[in-house]
Parts: sequence; C-alpha cells; structure tokens
Amino acid sequence: MCGIVGYIGGKQASTVLLEGLRRLEYRGYDSAGATVLDPDGTLHTIRRAGKLDALEAAVGRAGLPGLCGIGHTRWATHGPPTEVNAHPHLSTDGTIALVHNGIIENAGVLRQKLEAEGVQFRSDTDTEVVVHLIDRLWPQGGALEDAVVAALDQVIGAYGIAVVSSRDPNKIVAARQGSPLLLGIGSNGELLVGSDAAAVVAHTRDVVYLDEGDYAVLTPDGYRTFHLRQGPVRRQVHEVTWDLAAIEKGGFEHFMLKEIFEQPQTLRDVTRGRLLEEEGAARLGGITVADHDLLSVERIIITACGTSWHSALIGEYMLEEITRIPTKVEYASEFRYKNPVVDERTLVIVVSQSGETADTLAALREAKRRGATVMGIVNVVGSSIARETDFGVYLHAGPEIGVASTKAFTSQVAALALFSLYLGRRRDLSILEGRRLVKAFQELPGQVTEILKLNDGIRRLAELYRDAPNFLYLGRGYQFPAALEGALKLKEVSYIHAEGYPAAEMKHGPIALIDEKMPVVFLAPHDGVYHKVVSNIEEVKARRGQVIAVVNDGVEELQGKVDHFIRVPETHPVLLPILTSIPLQLLAYHIAVLRGCDVDQPRNLAKSVTVE
Ligand code: AGP
Repeated sequence: MCGIVGYIGGKQASTVLLEGLRRLEYRGYDSAGATVLDPDGTLHTIRRAGKLDALEAAVGRAGLPGLCGIGHTRWATHGPPTEVNAHPHLSTDGTIALVHNGIIENAGVLRQKLEAEGVQFRSDTDTEVVVHLIDRLWPQGGALEDAVVAALDQVIGAYGIAVVSSRDPNKIVAARQGSPLLLGIGSNGELLVGSDAAAVVAHTRDVVYLDEGDYAVLTPDGYRTFHLRQGPVRRQVHEVTWDLAAIEKGGFEHFMLKEIFEQPQTLRDVTRGRLLEEEGAARLGGITVADHDLLSVERIIITACGTSWHSALIGEYMLEEITRIPTKVEYASEFRYKNPVVDERTLVIVVSQSGETADTLAALREAKRRGATVMGIVNVVGSSIARETDFGVYLHAGPEIGVASTKAFTSQVAALALFSLYLGRRRDLSILEGRRLVKAFQELPGQVTEILKLNDGIRRLAELYRDAPNFLYLGRGYQFPAALEGALKLKEVSYIHAEGYPAAEMKHGPIALIDEKMPVVFLAPHDGVYHKVVSNIEEVKARRGQVIAVVNDGVEELQGKVDHFIRVPETHPVLLPILTSIPLQLLAYHIAVLRGCDVDQPRNLAKSVTVE
C-alpha cells in the first residue's frame, strides 16, 4: 500500500526521495509526491496523480535543491487518486508538510471540528486533518515534535507519518501506530525514514524499527526515539540481511518471473539447518515455547488472508494428517469479528508474507486477548506480526517485490510442513515417516529446477489460452488449496475470471459453465484421490471442456482425456502442492504478459494490505 520515505543528510534530498519511492513502487500506488526544504527555508512540494514517471518529470532532471525532505506513494482509500489527494499534505500557510500511511478513523469528526474553526480543506483525504491539527496545536515556542505529539493525542486510527516544517527546519519527525515505519542510520550523519527497508537499503543496512506508539526526531545532529506515553526510549539497531540485488530484477523481465525462478533457492533457504536426517525430524530455533506447552495444545487455528490463506489451508491438511490435532483455517478478516472458540489450549498460527496485513494483525491480537498462544509464519523480519507473535518460523525467502505472491507461498507451505514434522515427531509420527519427509524436503529444490525447465512449453500453452474469458481450477485434498491459489494468481495478474474448486464439487454447480471454450486446469498428481479426479476429468471432457492437467508419473491412462499435460516430479504428498503450484504461477505470468498486463503491479492491488 502507501509508501513513505524521508531523508536528511548531505545529498540532494529529492534524488534520494525519488529513488526510495521507486523501490517502494512494488507496494502498489496510484499517485505520488515529495516535499523538500529549500535552501531559502521554504517548503517546495510537487505531487502528481499516476505513476512515478509523472512526478519525476515534474521534479525535472536537475532535482530540487535542499537536503531534507519527505516523499510518498499513495494507494487511495479516502478520495480518488488525484493530484490534490496525493501526499504530502500541507498546512494552510504551507509551512508544514506531512505524509501518512494508514487510516485516521476519527477523521470525519476532526474535520468537522477544524472546519467549524475556519480551516478550509483542500483534499478528500483523512490525512489532511493531521497536518491542520499539528498547525493548530503547535505550542508557543515549542518544537515540531511537540506539535506532532499534541496532534497525535487526538487521532484515533492507524498511522505511520513523517513531517517536516519550515518553522522548525532541518528536522523530520516520524511516528508510528499500526503502520510500519523504520529509520535508516547511514554514515556521515545521513538519516532516512522508510515504511519498509526497501526504501533505505540503497543507503544503509542499519535500521531501527519503530515500535507501536513510538516517534523519532531526526536532525543533522542525529536521531532520538521516544514513546508517545513513556517518553525517551532506546530502540536497537538491526542489520538488514539482504542487499540491493534482492530488490532488483537481475536480468529478468519482471520481478514475478525472477521470484518464480528463485524458488529452488528459497526452498533450500527455508529448510537450511532445520532438517534432522537421522532423527527424521525438524529443528526450529524460532519455536521458543516449551515442549510441554506445545504438547498440551488441543486445537489449532490458522488465520491469514489471500495467498497466505491458501497456504494455511494446505497446512490444515498437513497438521491434521501428521499431528492428529484438530485444525481449522479462518480468514483473518472474519476471525477478528467472530466470537471464536479460543482458549489457552488453542495454538493460533498466523501466516503472512509481509507481516503487516491489517486483518491478520488484528486477528493475532484478538487471539492473544483470548489467551491463545500465537505462532507466526512470516517472511519480513522485524515486521509487526513477527514481533507480536509469541514465537515463530521465518521463511527467509528474501524480499518479495512482485505483488502476486509466488516464492513466499511455496516457502509458507514448506514452513507449515516443517512445523508439522516438528510437532508430529513429538507426537505420533514414526521415525520412518519422518525420514521420508526429510528426504522429500532435500530433493525439493532440484525438482523445482526441473519444473522451471517447462517454462517455454508453458509459455506456448499460455498463447493458446490468453483470450479465454474464464478458467476453472480443480483439485482434491492437498491439491484443492493449490487450485484456489492457481486461480488467484491468474485473476490477480491477467484479470481473467478464474475460480478454484474442490474437483468433486464441480458437479454441484460449476459444471454448468463448461463448454468447448472453458479451460479447466486439473491438479491430478498420482495421490490418494487420483482415480476420483480422473472421473472428474471425464465429466469435463464429456462436456467438451479444454483440459490442462498437472500430473506426475504413472498417469498414462489419462492419454486421450487431457488436452495438455504438465508433468511434475513425484514427491511426498505433503510437499506435492509446492510442485504443482509452480507451473500454475508460470501459466498466470505468461498469460498476463501476453495480454499486456502490468504483472508486477496489477491494477488496484497492493503488496501489503495495511488497511481493513
Ligand atoms: C498474493 O498474491 C496477494 N497479493 C494477497 O492475496 C496476499 O497474499 C494477502 O494480501 C496477504 O498478504 P500477507 O501474506 O502479506 O499477509
């Protein structure tokens, strides 16, 4: 969603801000802007609707003079994506500029109050109330941070903000409540603010994550951190473990394709040091809870959104099969407002790539409030979800820039399988079965490399189906969530309508859609329900549907019933959805590219959904 970058140091601020905004583009946005403090002590603000190119053109090649500034990419929530609604927003006299991520929930009431006091609003945004509040609450003789603190005291909602003012120049005040924000600590006194590490990593890998309720004051003399209620606080400096190359395309045409092709490595990384070959078990250093507490768990709830919800569904099948603990999956957005049955004997697992998804974070907090132990399966180190869970398993998949999740999904499935093995071996899972799974894990990266060699063939298949208006994805057991994920990938990047279903459910409704124009993707590896899926394929063929089947060895009897085969290697059934998903990622990618879609930043989508 929205992105924030701020800079104070010895370089031309506008150049650093535009570069930082480029690196935040992946979050999804529809307008952008920047404010720089001119050498003459006034604020210079430029905003544009649309993509960053428009802002860059307006700033011009020479850039803006000035060494301190803030920038923003906006993903519209309140008001359309116009120039007037783009950030930074300014106080009436133009002396204060503010950028904001999140939503101010009491914006309506505050706006009415400010309007009654004579303030004239220029935009439709919730953000604008904050800058006017700062202006009106600036205490006599006080500093910018005093005004920001006074304003935030009246604000209800989620925010990550950065503020500059010509009334207290050469200073950035940044604050966070419910929306992530970090400081980048550069060399030679250079300081940055970013809504994620991508905004600052070109300048420094030393970052300070602000905690909920924190604010920071950045000046050429250094930075200070405070908590809104507790006063001065010290926050640790962390090192970002990935470098710039991780957020660059590295010769690939798109981030999505790069990330699909990174999967042999990411699957190696998620298991690195975690497989115990001899014991047929897993070692998970992030699981800091005592075995006794883990073994007393009576039920598991996994909660997540979108693609992460799909990996959670696969996790449900795994955990029930391997640990025999009743497991249920809930959409985080539903869980947070239900009256869920959760107690001290419930383990709640939250799954999130970004670690910042608002609904997932709220579900986590609700689960904790009800006494559950909460475990995270998260990719982004230091993210809100990672920090608020009791313990967890990091994916170590590196930054995922493509809005459509690919490598994070397969790593989530792998992490859930590792956890199932970890817990299963502490319960009833036999050593032999454990070793079988460990061996399958070890073979996985090589098998993914084999699948990626199908890329050209899948591109040719995409050419045949690029104009199909609808797609159906069907699978059973572990392959049912993989079918849901295949359909979501296609929808997200190509805008083709696609549905995923359990294959046997097809005859209860979706079969009405099938005619000679309907491509139906079957996930039909040779598993326990293979023969049932073959019957479903026959039903589609009988109605002249086009069948694309993802299969593995030993399925020769499908010849004549299937229009196109995609073959993946054999593996343990628990890991099969990883192998069957990868061709579907490639299919979605190629169809989208052939249709001329912006695969890395599909319309209307944001990488991390930090609003409800
Ligand atoms: C994935 O392709 C999506 N863009 C989206 O569904 C995503 O998985 C969802 O918003 C959850 O995000 P998270 O994993 O960062 O919590």
